[in-house]
Amino acid sequence: MLFSFLQVAALAATATAQSAVSSASNSTSSYLPILGPYGNSPPVYPSPNATGIGWEAALEKAKAFLAQLTPEEKDDMVTGKPGPCVGNIVPIPRIGFNGLCLQDGPLAIRVADYASVFAAGVSTAASFDKKLMYERGLYMGEEFRGKGAQVALSPVAGPLGRSAYAGRNWEGFSPDPYLTGKAMEETIKGIQAAGVQATAKHWIANEQETQRNPTYNGSVIVQESISSNLDDRTMHELYMWPFANAVRAGVSSVMCSYQRLNGSYTCENSKALNGLLKEELGFQGYVMSDWGGTHSGVPSIESGLDMNMPGGLGLYGLTFGEASDFGRNVSIAVSNGTLDASRVDDMIIRIMTPYFHLGQDVDFPLVDPSSGDLNTFSPTDTWFRYFNLNGTRSRDVRGNHSESIRELGASATVMLKNVNNTLPLKAPKVIAIFGNDAGEPAPGYLNQNNYEAGTLVAGGGSGTGRLTSLVTPLDALKAQALKTGAIIEPYLNNTLIADTDIQTLLNPGQPDVCLVFLKTWAEEAADRKSLDTDWRGNDVVESVASYCSNTVVITHSSGINNLPFANHTNVTAILAAHFPGEQTGNSIVDVLYGAVNPSGKLPYTIALEIDDYNALPLTSVNSTDPYAWNIYFEEKLEIDYRYFDAQNMSVRYEFGFGLSYTTFSVSDLTFLKCGNATVTSVAPAGAVNPGGNEALWETLWYVTVELTNTGTVAGAEVPQLYLSLPASAPAGTPPKQLRGFEKVYLEPGASSTVTFPLMRRDLSYWDIISQDWLIPEGEFGFSVGFSSRDIKLTAGLTVV
Ligand SMILES: *[C@@H]1O[C@H](CO)[C@@H](O)[C@H](O)[C@H]1NC(C)=O
Ligand SMILES: *[C@@H]1O[C@H](CO)[C@@H](O)[C@H](O)[C@H]1NC(C)=O
Ligand SMILES: *[C@@H]1O[C@H](CO)[C@@H](O)[C@H](O)[C@H]1NC(C)=O
Ligand SMILES: *[C@@H]1O[C@H](CO)[C@@H](O)[C@H](O)[C@H]1NC(C)=O
Ligand SMILES: *[C@@H]1O[C@H](CO)[C@@H](O)[C@H](O)[C@H]1NC(C)=O
Ligand SMILES: *[C@@H]1O[C@H](CO)[C@@H](O)[C@H](O)[C@H]1NC(C)=O
Ligand SMILES: *[C@@H]1O[C@H](CO)[C@@H](O)[C@H](O)[C@H]1NC(C)=O
Ligand SMILES: *[C@@H]1O[C@H](CO)[C@@H](O)[C@H](O)[C@H]1NC(C)=O
Ligand SMILES: *[C@@H]1O[C@H](CO)[C@@H](O)[C@H](O)[C@H]1NC(C)=O
Ligand SMILES: *[C@@H]1O[C@H](CO)[C@@H](O)[C@H](O)[C@H]1NC(C)=O
Ligand SMILES: *[C@@H]1O[C@H](CO)[C@@H](O)[C@H](O)[C@H]1NC(C)=O
Ligand SMILES: *[C@@H]1O[C@H](CO)[C@@H](O)[C@H](O)[C@H]1NC(C)=O
Repeated sequence: MLFSFLQVAALAATATAQSAVSSASNSTSSYLPILGPYGNSPPVYPSPNATGIGWEAALEKAKAFLAQLTPEEKDDMVTGKPGPCVGNIVPIPRIGFNGLCLQDGPLAIRVADYASVFAAGVSTAASFDKKLMYERGLYMGEEFRGKGAQVALSPVAGPLGRSAYAGRNWEGFSPDPYLTGKAMEETIKGIQAAGVQATAKHWIANEQETQRNPTYNGSVIVQESISSNLDDRTMHELYMWPFANAVRAGVSSVMCSYQRLNGSYTCENSKALNGLLKEELGFQGYVMSDWGGTHSGVPSIESGLDMNMPGGLGLYGLTFGEASDFGRNVSIAVSNGTLDASRVDDMIIRIMTPYFHLGQDVDFPLVDPSSGDLNTFSPTDTWFRYFNLNGTRSRDVRGNHSESIRELGASATVMLKNVNNTLPLKAPKVIAIFGNDAGEPAPGYLNQNNYEAGTLVAGGGSGTGRLTSLVTPLDALKAQALKTGAIIEPYLNNTLIADTDIQTLLNPGQPDVCLVFLKTWAEEAADRKSLDTDWRGNDVVESVASYCSNTVVITHSSGINNLPFANHTNVTAILAAHFPGEQTGNSIVDVLYGAVNPSGKLPYTIALEIDDYNALPLTSVNSTDPYAWNIYFEEKLEIDYRYFDAQNMSVRYEFGFGLSYTTFSVSDLTFLKCGNATVTSVAPAGAVNPGGNEALWETLWYVTVELTNTGTVAGAEVPQLYLSLPASAPAGTPPKQLRGFEKVYLEPGASSTVTFPLMRRDLSYWDIISQDWLIPEGEFGFSVGFSSRDIKLTAGLTVV
């Protein structure tokens, strides 16, 4: 969603189709772009009713709730209003309903004081640690609940990470759908275990920021949003995959994305909402629009959109007020026969079932009034409806979460290089610290894009966090130096470092180690312009390493960086720490000094050369055609390592790579069939439960390996299972795909059996003809190793 009111205003000297609900019942027909080889989305109507699978008791309560509502109250239930939270469904005091408070975002409750800033999605993915993924979700959920937010706008599986440059990749997890799927599942289970509704966003194929919203001239749309045009197999095997995990995990809500999909806006694309999400995946919760992503009334409703956010809320030049494509138009459209009343009832049942299922009707904390004061999105003077602000102000909801944040930050740090065991540090006496990422950020904290000074713990936009406390790398290194009696020499001005012979800056003599802290910004509403580190990071490293023969580079980055200094002989170690959250300094000191043995793994690939990346964002069109913005996912399944593997290209650091202070071996690859049933190529037609056909989630085979710590220090390793489908699979199948990982901690010399369960979906491809998942015939290749290219064991198996 959009970040702040200021940003919204800047985006918008404009007004959207604030038109009354259109009576057209076929949303795709009004958007007919030129789509080359791709068609428009097929119409899928009507929108399926929720049947409450798994939430039966709550469904009955939702129906009873619905029965008490007037038509005007029904309008309010499906339409946001200005209020204390970034999204608000107004209270109905008459029936004891306090309304719904929807708050950002993926790594923190953003609009709040005394809340924690957790690791970003990219760091969470780099941990490859399911337990910590769950714990992060649980603690975030506790903080949302503590502040009175029923709905967390988290987590993110779109963007998945098609392009290295996309501005929001760091909010999500990894371009690998299996890894992202597991991270979605654990995060959602964690958030919802705290009694808070999770929102899987942004559905779907939301893979770049540029032109994500239309271009306006005044109130007139001059050019529509970009359309992501992709084939059905790619949709299922890459972009839908992690959302299926989210639905399976019982996610309450799904947010539809800004851009168009095969020509029609995703929030009114009946194939995407009615067809793929509600029918195929059996989603029982509600679809909310991204903020301002609703472009029509009845067509969107009939296509499956259940909640318009933020409603009439000052987007695109609109005044704050009741005006909305939904709002009063909904009951009018019902009363004049345009819209079926049962569809509106289903919208409300879908909205209220998760509320009752999570027990939010009982003792849920009231909204913290301080959140309302901090909400720049709908400031207090724009509210025109009643909200209950009797809650206690400025509640501290952080608990002891900083311990877990520190642990995840260290666990997610990826060691890319460590020559001659330069790390862990061995009681250095003189430590020179370089780089503007080491110290205190400029005041303001929320947006560090244009501030040279200060460490980055998160990117910008609605996915950022508001720091109540921060331990910078410099703080933590100074605290460590006090313990060990080391001398710290900090140089935090990148321009000065880059342009100066650093020997003239330093005290005489070589420091024992030079630590260089670099950062890379990324934010919502903009794609990255470069893969280099910011503020002349490459020049800073060159300058330091030209003199300091023991240079250790640490990056705090939104994601993929070009690392041209990776082979410099004086760069002895590189740590990719991404966006670790508020304990960033402690997390990195834990790794640098060996209190924690690094075990993070790259959740993406670093190519050898910048030009090696495919699937670039579309940054301009040479046409005034309103439908000119089209991006064709022509690479199909070949994103990230699937591409580099298919093209047989060398890379600098591959997906899944990360070093340790110890060594590990794997042995004894074995297969165990689950049960004794005959495995068929076609899935037995099972019940469509949340997540889709139940048979897809059934474990068919187990793969086990023996993992041993063969080194001298304790540590964790992540054995990874990659699967190669048999030759009978259709053309375009990637050479190998991640289908199992497990983070395992072992003492030196210790061994452990690691088990990878393989579900039917893991062994299948999406067959566009039968519109089903099929297990191909022939021999599968199984590869187990410590990265996508460091394969230690292989074996073949015919599974059907
Ligand atoms: C919607 O569009 C499709 C494809 O153009 C067409 O076949 C169908 O009849 C239309 N439905 C309605 C209700 O207009
Ligand atoms: C998009 O168009 C392609 C090509 O016509 C088609 O295979 C695919 O199913 C469509 N997907 C959606 C969601 O409309
Ligand atoms: C939804 O349920 C209502 C009854 O509550 C029924 O009238 C309507 O036809 C159902 N809609 C669909 C799409 O099944
Ligand atoms: C915007 O609209 C105005 C008035 O309709 C028109 O004069 C102007 O040329 C338009 N500008 C652009 C950039 O299209
Ligand atoms: C019914 O109401 C809707 C919403 O205001 C409006 O857009 C539509 O034109 C109306 N249709 C008729 C037939 O009056
Ligand atoms: C909020 O507090 C005020 C003042 O104590 C009280 O009059 C009002 O009834 C309370 N509202 C609710 C909804 O509890
Ligand atoms: C690593 O150690 C070897 C042997 O001591 C030495 O020759 C080499 O220069 C060292 N390399 C670096 C980068 O320090
Ligand atoms: C950083 O160093 C440059 C070059 O010496 C200087 O011009 C600039 O003012 C310095 N910046 C700060 C914030 O001190
Ligand atoms: C590495 O550091 C040594 C010691 O200062 C220096 O002599 C050498 O030139 C440096 N190497 C490079 C490639 O800059
Ligand atoms: C960098 O070093 C690695 C490991 O020594 C080597 O495999 C690779 O070819 C080198 N890359 C370049 C671009 O020199
Ligand atoms: C855009 O159009 C201009 C003028 O016709 C042309 O010079 C330019 O090459 C075109 N650019 C692209 C990317 O097609
Ligand atoms: C399959 O497993 C079931 C339960 O473990 C067992 O009762 C049955 O005899 C087995 N069937 C065959 C053919 O092995």
